[in-house]
Amino acid sequence: MRYLIFGVFLLWSFQARTQPSQQLRDSLNRLSQQDHQLMMQRLGITSLRPGPSGNPEAPNAANADEAKASPYTSLPDPLVFDSGKPVKAAAQWQKRQREIREAFDREVYGRMPDHTPAVTWEVVRTVDTLEGSYPVVRKELRGHVDNSAYPAIEVTLEMTLTTPARATSAVPLMLEFGWNFPANWPRPPVEHPTWQEQLLAQGWGYAILIPTSFQADNGAGLREGIIGLMNQGQPRQLDDWGTLRAWAWGASRALDYFEADRSVDARRVGIEGLSRYGKAALVAMAYEPRFAIGFIGSSGAGGAKILRRQFGEQVENLASSAEYHWFAPNFIKYAGPLTPNDLPVDAHELIALCAPRPVFISVGSPAVEGQWIDARGMFVATVQAAPVYELLGKKGLGTTTFPPQETALTQGDLAFRQHAGGHTVVPNWPTFIPFAARYFGSVAK
Ligand code: GCU
Repeated sequence: MRYLIFGVFLLWSFQARTQPSQQLRDSLNRLSQQDHQLMMQRLGITSLRPGPSGNPEAPNAANADEAKASPYTSLPDPLVFDSGKPVKAAAQWQKRQREIREAFDREVYGRMPDHTPAVTWEVVRTVDTLEGSYPVVRKELRGHVDNSAYPAIEVTLEMTLTTPARATSAVPLMLEFGWNFPANWPRPPVEHPTWQEQLLAQGWGYAILIPTSFQADNGAGLREGIIGLMNQGQPRQLDDWGTLRAWAWGASRALDYFEADRSVDARRVGIEGLSRYGKAALVAMAYEPRFAIGFIGSSGAGGAKILRRQFGEQVENLASSAEYHWFAPNFIKYAGPLTPNDLPVDAHELIALCAPRPVFISVGSPAVEGQWIDARGMFVATVQAAPVYELLGKKGLGTTTFPPQETALTQGDLAFRQHAGGHTVVPNWPTFIPFAARYFGSVAK
């Protein structure tokens, strides 16, 4: 009951104080729909298959029956060249990696422009403070994007960086894609140690980058932000980058900053995110070789889940006007006339692009989080990425059997764990941190 009351309060306060007005939301939806229509026109598509509902009670509810989940007969093989020849040696991987990247660029996440403008980081404020019982230094940062090519669009990246105050050398760091909750957002009681305190206990730091500060989370915003700046306010080309790729670009610019800040060891920086930011974290990890480790939370469709599986969220949902902006416009065509089976790549190859670096795939309990995320679809993708890791002398999950809840598969360089909670990574931090410590080392206690 207490939770129910809190929930209602949360909803009220969200709507009353933090949500854009209904009018603004309507107008954002309308603009997103218009841009989506324009992309369909350019693709020569007049109709799309609708996606299933995320509401398990709805007549068109997404499939949650494992027996109907795998209509596909095979997945694209990450270790076969486009020519049909097998990849036999580690030395050939780079060439194959380029082919896989090209397919993701063209058909799924879109191409990032070859030259993106410089970002000048400004330390707005530095404070000495406490995080729990840990003395820390917190820097509030703004990344100003050079917009001299098109001054009508201004783009600024917002980030905070928190490092242990007593560190005697540069520290490892986890970079989180952060949700932009306003300061007056009512939060549920947090359990200590928080994930931030757990990182500080290792002698590590953390940073939080706000993705929506430089690219809005809707189609209406595609002519603004970093994507809009590059296109000088014009609509996207069919293989142009989508929002996930743009958010990943921002994470790379954050890394540029860490390379210049002596409190951070930029060779030991990991990326973490949940849900749409879990997708973005995996894309960042796949495209940015300087990220040392990835902690990918409930990323689901468009992230770590096999798109060919008919379980939970589908390509048809991702291609709709509510979510297409995460991808290249070309991706829309896989919801009509093409199908997910026509995709030249699937999620296991996105994970494979991260090889040989460690990746931890996290998900919640279906009983709490629901089935939309498709835990098994992400597990299958992780299993199917393993041959690439093995080719490069690393280890996969060590099993092809889906583990019971709360069983950590962390022996290899690919890791998987389904926690008992909901749509959050929080219960998996205590498992992720020792996994990461194998690579980062523990700096201080
Ligand atoms: C929706 C969407 C998911 C996404 C999630 C989130 O449920 O369908 O793809 O991951 O929102 O970001 O919370």
